[in-house]
Amino acid sequence: MARRILLIIGGGIAAYKSLDLIRRLRERGHGVRVVLTRAAQEFITPLAAGALSNDRVFTDLFDLDDEREIGHIRLSRETDLIVVAPATADLLAKLATGQAGDLATAVLLASDKPVLVAPAMNPRMWQHPATRRNLRQLAADGVHFIGPNSGEMAERGEAGPGRMSEPTEIAEAVDRLLAGGTARALAEGPLSGRHVLVTSGPTHEPIDPVRYIANRSSGKQGHAIATAAAALGARVTLVSGPVALPDPEGVTTIAVTTAAQMLEAVRAALPADVAVFAAAVADWRVAMAPDQKLKKAQGTAPAPLVLTENPDILKTIAVPGPKRPALVIGFAAETENVVAHAQKKRKDKGADWIVANDVSPATGTFGGDRNTVHLVTAEEAENWPTQSKDEVARRIVLRAAHFLAANQTDV
Ligand SMILES: Cc1cc2nc3c(=O)[nH]c(=O)nc-3n(C[C@H](O)[C@H](O)[C@H](O)COP(=O)(O)O)c2cc1C
Repeated sequence: MARRILLIIGGGIAAYKSLDLIRRLRERGHGVRVVLTRAAQEFITPLAAGALSNDRVFTDLFDLDDEREIGHIRLSRETDLIVVAPATADLLAKLATGQAGDLATAVLLASDKPVLVAPAMNPRMWQHPATRRNLRQLAADGVHFIGPNSGEMAERGEAGPGRMSEPTEIAEAVDRLLAGGTARALAEGPLSGRHVLVTSGPTHEPIDPVRYIANRSSGKQGHAIATAAAALGARVTLVSGPVALPDPEGVTTIAVTTAAQMLEAVRAALPADVAVFAAAVADWRVAMAPDQKLKKAQGTAPAPLVLTENPDILKTIAVPGPKRPALVIGFAAETENVVAHAQKKRKDKGADWIVANDVSPATGTFGGDRNTVHLVTAEEAENWPTQSKDEVARRIVLRAAHFLAANQTDV
């Protein structure tokens, strides 16, 4: 059914695509009325938008003729749906905070009609905490989103999430909304549609039914990575050894005890786009742990602990093959020559990146809330400043999102 669409075009490079959007909407039989922000007019002209919409184009809140004939209140009322495309970071911020300083924002604030926004901006603007905050607010206010897509930006050498959805995708979302459906209630994050697998915590290797070999890993870093990946929109599977932490929200957590169980759970969770092996997996287990508790007998020597090697989860999963995640990240906990050991480990294990950290007791890394890490890739070793484990996690998953976008990988 033909409906009336009010298209607000913001001041971004993608404004040229909105001229095509006008055509796509009209092809579907909809009437399109266009509002251009002042910045949008730097990119496209009212003349072009008017010729394609076959209607006059609105640009100014204080145009006396318009206010007499058709003011911002009427513009917002005489429509079935408002589409903002491209929705600039600036427009999203203004809408999230209820500003009404120009015609576009005044129309949006004066309207009770459904609003569909198609964000378009530089990936760093899209990932900025302020934009994330605004998106959450808009989602809570019932605003619908389409995109953005990931890929090459107009700026040379820039890639990542932030490309405006294609005009046909937006037109389809318009029809879905007009038919009473939803576009997407929540803004997509840069990892939406991706599966991120994370291991965390220590493993416990039984000596007998009541004793075990363990290590000092708290699971804080691994759990923070799972949380950060979920916050960027990923579907996250967390395979965790025994820890004293709550299961992160919005994450599928699988509790395991031993290294063998962890490998089995990791295998079952594949395929994944990204695998982050942050767990401190025991290198060895007791060769033949008895079923009964070992007894201390007077005058006899303690039972010797015969150890055997555990499976190497990182190395096993990093082997090239159809199920290998596009990005395999290992952790290296070292107490000396941190970067050199990590570089060797990266090669030996076949990992793409190693996050190396100094866990010597003086650093307080094990169990603490802060971490000093080095990101070792094939190209270089980056020294990151000491920061909270949450911040380390956020940086790792953002880098993973950039990597996937740059390599355009799909499971
Ligand atoms: C060449 C150029 C390209 C721009 N592209 C974008 C963009 O894609 N997304 C965005 O949010 N802002 C972009 N900006 C910045 C906006 O134009 C600026 O924030 C403006 O105030 C937005 O106004 P509006 O939201 O009222 O349209 C760009 C600026 C320039 C100069």
